[in-house]
Amino acid sequence: MLGASILLTVAVAAQVVLATPIARSAYSVKETHYAPRRWTQKGRAPRGQMLSLQIAVKQGDFEELERNLYEVSDPSHSRYGQHLSHEEVNALVKPKDEALDLVHEWLLFNGVDKFDYSPSKDWINIKISVEDAERLLATEYSTYVHEDGTEQSRTTKWSLPLHLHEHIDTIQPTTSFMRAVPRSVQFKEFENVVIPADYKPPTDKTLARVCTINGTTPECFKTLYKTLGYKQKVPGKNKIAFNNFLGEVPIRPDAEIFLKKYEPKAVKGAYEFKFVSIDGGPQQDNASSPEQIAAGTSREANLDVQTIIGMTYPMPVIAYTTGGEPPQTPDAAAGDPPGNEPYLAWVTYVLKQRDLPQVISTSYGDDEQTVPLEYAKRVCSSFAQLGARGISLLFGSGDGGAGDIAGNDAELCISNDGKNTTKFIASFPASCPYVTTVGATQGFQPEVAAYRPANSLGPDGKLHGYYASGSGFSEYFPRPKYQDAAVKPYLKKLGNLHEGLYNPAGRGYPDISAQGLYFEYVWNATNGVISGTSASTPLLSSVLALVNDALIADGKAPLGFLNPWLYEKGYKGFTDILSGGNGGCNTTGFPVTKDWDAVTGFGTPVFPTIVKLAKGNH
Ligand SMILES: *[C@@H]1O[C@H](CO)[C@@H](O)[C@H](O)[C@H]1NC(C)=O
Ligand SMILES: *[C@@H]1O[C@H](CO)[C@@H](O)[C@H](O)[C@H]1NC(C)=O
Ligand SMILES: *[C@@H]1O[C@H](CO)[C@@H](O)[C@H](O)[C@H]1NC(C)=O
Ligand SMILES: *[C@@H]1O[C@H](CO)[C@@H](O)[C@H](O)[C@H]1NC(C)=O
Ligand SMILES: *[C@@H]1O[C@H](CO)[C@@H](O)[C@H](O)[C@H]1NC(C)=O
Repeated sequence: MLGASILLTVAVAAQVVLATPIARSAYSVKETHYAPRRWTQKGRAPRGQMLSLQIAVKQGDFEELERNLYEVSDPSHSRYGQHLSHEEVNALVKPKDEALDLVHEWLLFNGVDKFDYSPSKDWINIKISVEDAERLLATEYSTYVHEDGTEQSRTTKWSLPLHLHEHIDTIQPTTSFMRAVPRSVQFKEFENVVIPADYKPPTDKTLARVCTINGTTPECFKTLYKTLGYKQKVPGKNKIAFNNFLGEVPIRPDAEIFLKKYEPKAVKGAYEFKFVSIDGGPQQDNASSPEQIAAGTSREANLDVQTIIGMTYPMPVIAYTTGGEPPQTPDAAAGDPPGNEPYLAWVTYVLKQRDLPQVISTSYGDDEQTVPLEYAKRVCSSFAQLGARGISLLFGSGDGGAGDIAGNDAELCISNDGKNTTKFIASFPASCPYVTTVGATQGFQPEVAAYRPANSLGPDGKLHGYYASGSGFSEYFPRPKYQDAAVKPYLKKLGNLHEGLYNPAGRGYPDISAQGLYFEYVWNATNGVISGTSASTPLLSSVLALVNDALIADGKAPLGFLNPWLYEKGYKGFTDILSGGNGGCNTTGFPVTKDWDAVTGFGTPVFPTIVKLAKGNH
């Protein structure tokens, strides 16, 4: 990113010279980003292919928004809980008129006259062909193919007229290779359930009756985290939502089978949850089609919806489905927009809404290094806008320990800065400081960090089955102040372990954790088990949504952006996880320790204690 920051300085100097706005000043490179590992360039992108370009116009006053976010989220501040309105947030981030005028002028000059805006106009969306985008950005798009067959039209370098450099943060899709990859891990492909060698069943009689490690259920979670017997007081006022990308869609008849067996009182929930479809995201009421089954679609969506309804019924549940999935080969004739940016489409939609669910669970992510810095910052700042409005956003931390989301392979842990050094690979949006990131545990008395070593030989000659709670430190986002007291002592304990492999000055994650191994679920009308921080995230989101019920019923504000509260006092409502494995990049990964650690954060929830702590805020 060195190149980008140097160019920005040039642009500022140029602006002084170009006092009168002109549509065409000389172009200069705005951004370069290496194509991440596992993506191969395969010739020019089809020139007629349509792109949905998102232009990030510099926000008016993000620092002020951030200050507001921290004040309303900090329990020792007098404004705690006084979340901002839709209008207040938009007013803070709305770009300066000059910036919007110059961007419009440039687009009109280039024959683009149809725009779509985010509510504060900090994002401008245009539909444009590859050929026109190439002219607009003085670049060339290529087709890039991922090892798994996915194709995206991308470039590694693009330009802007000099006078626009200071007004536009980024334009995507250009250099971003990020995809919303589901965090759920299925072991069936290679092997079925394997009980960890050191596993001991719970000694507590009640727990022993409801919790078995080879198939965890809502009854087990409710007992373990002590939400059992809690009667909701304001379902309807209080809501929960979860995200679906990549064609994933929760299947009602599967949810019905699951709930009948594991949470019969909630069985109506299978037909009551609401779809909110964004950009043509799928919705359906019937069983999976043979095509969906053949493609393995909806495992993630089913896990999410079944966990959430099992834990929170009768709370209203919203399933966001965002379209624009990157199919294995984009079919332009069928209107598949190549390389859509799913988080952005989703967050842009959500930011337009006045009435939002108070907790939103997202079990998707990608390696941070697939996302260019400026783009990651803007997506992350959109999450801050939701936080300021009092929405809790939870993201899974990943399933590859300290490494790449895909597993424990040294070959996958190579830096994306042209130097090809071995590095732990952080995960995004998990690394964003304005979201709450969720790690995974297993076992019950005690719970330990979720870890499963690779143990079965796949057809590719490599060992598969590895899974470890995603952990680490951002390469992009510095450690936020609220983490200092918790993370600095952990860094001290690490000493020189893994020195050079991670960024000790970065935002550490996860923040908290929950069960994440062998969840019972139903897919293809069949019972099975599934694991991942994908499972932990909807589970923890459900517990926090119940906390919001207790708060709202008492006339108090919902939890909102959790972290400042969590790191100041909320952590006392979580059971510290003291042991368990990690790994990643063919190393031992990060150690699990007393107090906060980069594998399980502060640990797993104790519902009544969290409610007590949260109520004490006001
Ligand atoms: C595994 O599951 C079966 C029931 O499905 C149970 O009988 C058995 O005790 C479980 N094993 C462990 C180690 O929990
Ligand atoms: C479900 O409904 C959709 C359209 O509503 C249809 O295309 C699909 O074939 C149906 N699938 C099954 C299994 O009935
Ligand atoms: C880094 O790896 C890429 C892809 O394998 C290769 O093209 C490039 O030459 C390597 N760079 C260095 C400095 O080794
Ligand atoms: C889906 O269920 C059908 C009917 O039970 C079964 O024949 C088929 O093998 C299952 N498919 C997969 C991929 O599990
Ligand atoms: C992983 O580590 C082991 C032991 O340290 C070593 O034998 C092996 O070659 C390493 N594998 C890779 C791919 O680096």
